[in-house]
Amino acid sequence: MLELSPEEQSMLGGDVGPGVRKAMEIVVALGRIYGARQLVPVESVQVAGVSYRNLGEAGLEFLRDWSSQGALVRVPTTLNPAGVDLEAWRDLGFSETFASRQSAVIDAYRRFGVSTTCTCTPYLVGNVPGQGEHVAWAESSAVSYANSVLGARTNREGGPSALAAAISGRTAAFGLHLDENRRATLRVIVKCQVRTFSDLGALGYLAGKAARNRVPIFVGLDVPRGVGGLKALGASLAASGSVALYHVAGVTPEADEPGLLVADHDTLVIDDLKPAYEALGCHDREIDLVWIGCPHASIEEIEETLRLLAGRPVRSALWITTSRDVRDQAASAGLVAAVETAGGRVVADMCVAIAPMQELSYRVVATPSAKGAIYARSHAGLRVRYGTVDQCIESAVAGVWP
Ligand code: F3S
Repeated sequence: MLELSPEEQSMLGGDVGPGVRKAMEIVVALGRIYGARQLVPVESVQVAGVSYRNLGEAGLEFLRDWSSQGALVRVPTTLNPAGVDLEAWRDLGFSETFASRQSAVIDAYRRFGVSTTCTCTPYLVGNVPGQGEHVAWAESSAVSYANSVLGARTNREGGPSALAAAISGRTAAFGLHLDENRRATLRVIVKCQVRTFSDLGALGYLAGKAARNRVPIFVGLDVPRGVGGLKALGASLAASGSVALYHVAGVTPEADEPGLLVADHDTLVIDDLKPAYEALGCHDREIDLVWIGCPHASIEEIEETLRLLAGRPVRSALWITTSRDVRDQAASAGLVAAVETAGGRVVADMCVAIAPMQELSYRVVATPSAKGAIYARSHAGLRVRYGTVDQCIESAVAGVWP
C-alpha cells in the first residue's frame, strides 16, 4: 500500500496547481502498479523522448499542454539526444521542416525549466549522481551507467514518467531503488579476451540476450582502459536485453558486497565473441558513413579518433556524435578543427539512430558501438558494418572496409 506524506497528498490534490497534480498522478499510478510503499526524492532527472521523429505533433502538443498548466521541474533535468544537431543541421543535410519541429520540441522542454543539454551521457557533463542516490533517468545506456558504474539508483523511466519525476521531485520506490532488486541473478564467466570498445559491445550483446532483464555479474572480465570504459558494455547490455544494472567483480561499486550473488543464480559462460560480431554487422565493403560516439563521445574518444586518423583525410563521411558541452570543450582544445581538417564532423545534440537519416544519402554505416549497430539498423533503416574503432577509422580513410 503506497503511503504519501502530507506534502505529497497536497500535490496530488492539486494544491500546487494542475501541472504538478498531473505529475503526481503519473508517479503515484506507477507506484501503485508496481507495489511501491513510498515515494523517494530524486536528485536529478534525464528525460528521453526528445527526437521529433519519435514524438511527432501529438507528443509536442502533450508537452505544450502540460507546461501551460504551470508545471516546472524541481531538480536538475537534462534531455536525451535530439534528432538533429540544433546548430549544424543544414550543413549536415537535414531538412528545415524537421529542424524547425525539433526546435519546437526543445522550446517546449525549456518552458518546464529543463536544461536543454541533449545527451545520452549526462555523467560526462556534470550530472554525476553519487553512490546510493536516487535519480530518475530514462535513456537505457545512461540508466545502466548510473546504476552499475556510479552505484546510483534508477529504474528505466519512460518519457512522461521521467518528466513527472522532475516536476514532482519524486519517483516511486520499486525495482532498482530497492536493495533486494540490485542483487545479481546471473553469473557471467568471461573466458575470452576483451580488449577493445567493440569487444565490450560484443560481450554485452551476448550477455544481454541471455540475461534479458536479469542482473548479471561478470567474473573474469579485465575491463580494458581508455576505450570508452564501461559505457560500451552497459549500452550493449541494455540494447540486446533490457539490463538496467550489471556488476563486474572487482570493478563496479556494489560488485563485491557480501551476498550480492543470489544462491539460486544461473551461470553463463562466454568464451567467443565472434558470434556477436557476426550478428551485429553485415559484410558490405563500401562505407558511406562512419559513426563514432554511441553513447555520446568523451573528449578522450575524440582524441583517440584523431590519433587513429594520424592527419589523413577521410573519403567516407565521419561523424563523432557528442553533447554540446563536450563539443565546446573539444573546440577550445582545437580538436573540432582537427577533425574538420580531415573532413570529419563533431556533431552535437543528436543521435544517428533517431535522426531522420532517410533525408540523407547514407546507406551503409560503420560503427564500433554494439548499441549503435542495433539501433542504426532497427530505428534508422541503415545497413551496418560492425568492428573495432581502428577498423572504422581505416574505413573512413579508405572509403571501404579494411
Ligand atoms: Fe546515445 Fe543514440 Fe547511442 S541515444 S547510446 S548515441 S543509440
